[in-house]
Amino acid sequence: MDKFPLTFAIIKPHVVSNPVAFQRLQSIISDNKFEVIRSKQVKLTEPILAEFYGEHRDKFFYNRLITFMRSGETQALILHKIDAITSWRNLMGPTKVFKTLYSHPESLRGQFGLSDTRNACHGSDSVASVEKEVKIFFPDFNIHDWCTTSEFQAK
Ligand code: PPS
Repeated sequence: MDKFPLTFAIIKPHVVSNPVAFQRLQSIISDNKFEVIRSKQVKLTEPILAEFYGEHRDKFFYNRLITFMRSGETQALILHKIDAITSWRNLMGPTKVFKTLYSHPESLRGQFGLSDTRNACHGSDSVASVEKEVKIFFPDFNIHDWCTTSEFQAK
């Protein structure tokens, strides 16, 4: 759907464990007019990560990614903004941090990313991914109901 109003994001462990960076990143989220619809701190387990990163199972970095994502608390977020998926991915910057440091130093990954694994945050890449990822982290949240509530319609 064009201009889908929700996206799913994760703030990764090395940011959550650093109070100054975590606070700063959250301020950037609100300064960029994302509304936090749901938020929870969660220590991820292997089965959840296997489901979440299933499409990367055969990639060389899979074990490294899973090990890192299990290493500490993460913050899972449902964010609202018009065209949320694209807006959030633009704010995050590219996945590969070394490129990002030069091409998008102002992006979240440019500021808080340390490597391709510790790249500060995740964002869904399509409406189908938002639906899948929200269901994993917030099983009680009904995207369709939320999008059709008068609260959202009024925004
Ligand atoms: S994307 O955004 O799906 O197009 O990017 P992709 O390159 O497919 O990366 C998907 C996730 O894999 C992680 N990643 C890596 N981890 C470790 N080492 C290397 N080299 C590496 N390359 C990619 C990357 O952090 C992405 O995780 P998320 O949580 O989606 O950011």
